[in-house]
Amino acid sequence: MPSNHMPYRGNPDAVRALVRPDQVHRDVYLSEELFALEQEHFFANTWNFVGHDSQLPKAGDYITVDIAGRPLIVVRQGDKSVRAMMNRCAHKGSRLVSQACGNTGNFFRCPYHAWAYKTDGSLLAIPLKKGYEGTQLNECDASKGLTQVRHVRLYRGFIFVKLNDAGPDFEEYFGESLSSIDNMADRSPEGELEIAGGCLRFMHQCNWKMFVENLNDTMHPMVAHESSAGTAKSMWAAKPADEPKPMAIEQFVPFMSDYKFFEDMGVRVYENGHSFSGVNYSIHSKYSAIPEYDEAMRAAYGEERTAQILGLARHNTVYYPNLTIKGAIQSIRVVKPIAVDKTLVESWTFRLKGAPPQLLERTCMYNRLINSPFSVVGHDDLHAYRGMQAGLRASGNEWVSLHRNFDAAEIGQKEVTSTGTSEISMRNQFRAWLKFMTLTM
Ligand code: FES
Ligand SMILES: [Fe+2]
Repeated sequence: MPSNHMPYRGNPDAVRALVRPDQVHRDVYLSEELFALEQEHFFANTWNFVGHDSQLPKAGDYITVDIAGRPLIVVRQGDKSVRAMMNRCAHKGSRLVSQACGNTGNFFRCPYHAWAYKTDGSLLAIPLKKGYEGTQLNECDASKGLTQVRHVRLYRGFIFVKLNDAGPDFEEYFGESLSSIDNMADRSPEGELEIAGGCLRFMHQCNWKMFVENLNDTMHPMVAHESSAGTAKSMWAAKPADEPKPMAIEQFVPFMSDYKFFEDMGVRVYENGHSFSGVNYSIHSKYSAIPEYDEAMRAAYGEERTAQILGLARHNTVYYPNLTIKGAIQSIRVVKPIAVDKTLVESWTFRLKGAPPQLLERTCMYNRLINSPFSVVGHDDLHAYRGMQAGLRASGNEWVSLHRNFDAAEIGQKEVTSTGTSEISMRNQFRAWLKFMTLTM
């Protein structure tokens, strides 16, 4: 039950009052009105990830996604470019395509009355066209075909869109944070990634922001994951130090590192809500080497550049608001807000082109163990989110504390590096949330 009892629609000052430099009001997680306004304004004013180039190898290949509550089709064109359009027939508004992905051939055909569109969205044909003679059809929007998304950008195979004209262009929006995508792609000896395997979908009964905030919350692993990763760690403790670790143990154990490990790891934030943990090293830094992979990398990049690429083992990078990547593991999670207290998280895995198969095996193992609905540690996080979604309804204190390592000088900076256990990534997200929420209100 939200408590401010304030109408937020048409009232940007009421929205501004929800975010303080070091606290946020609980309504940002609980209010259905704010959830609707986020779809209308916040998500439409920000750059959102929609898919990967490798999902659309041939002309006519498409994927469908919802961004900012609006249905989109993303489709490969004959000239190899990628377009995004509203998945809405120009006639009476039927969704044109229902499948999550497929190939449409040379045109889309509406399943209701068969209006047809070229893959660029322009109107191709209407059955019994003579019925429109002498009407005003050609003067109205319907004759123009599908509504185009004007801001579409591919970056190293990652496809992003921005629905509104308001807000910064792509480079300005992501800035230096793009170095994490670069590192993930550079880990391929060919410099290219390819989506491999399907998608693991994990429904979370919580507001989307709780999941996104948790990605660089390094104060929680040793507490929330004690019963899962802690058990794996203690099972392994009795083994001789030189015993080769199975992949699962290698991936679980670092979650149980101490506070100092996470402090020294470091976190960096960039303006517009982006951040990554693992400035100096990460929980992925100590994975055992795969000799054939090192060889392929050195052959492609040389000794020095290979050391640079593989030496960068960042933990989570958050591309605010809907994408988070793990470059060193080649997996991504995509955030899909469904309702104020319901969020779908999709996990995808990538193959590094030109790398030996053990890399993809490691990626898939990690995704199953950590990110999937079958994950042991994933349920610890889910329990925490559901706990917050329920606990925040309590009375007496309507504010959430984000004070850890707060420093007023961090406000307004393009980039700040801080101790890994700081809550700066969350404060940084809420400053961006407020900026893009109120930009068009
Ligand atoms: S709604 Fe698409 S053809 Fe009528
Ligand atoms: Fe966690």
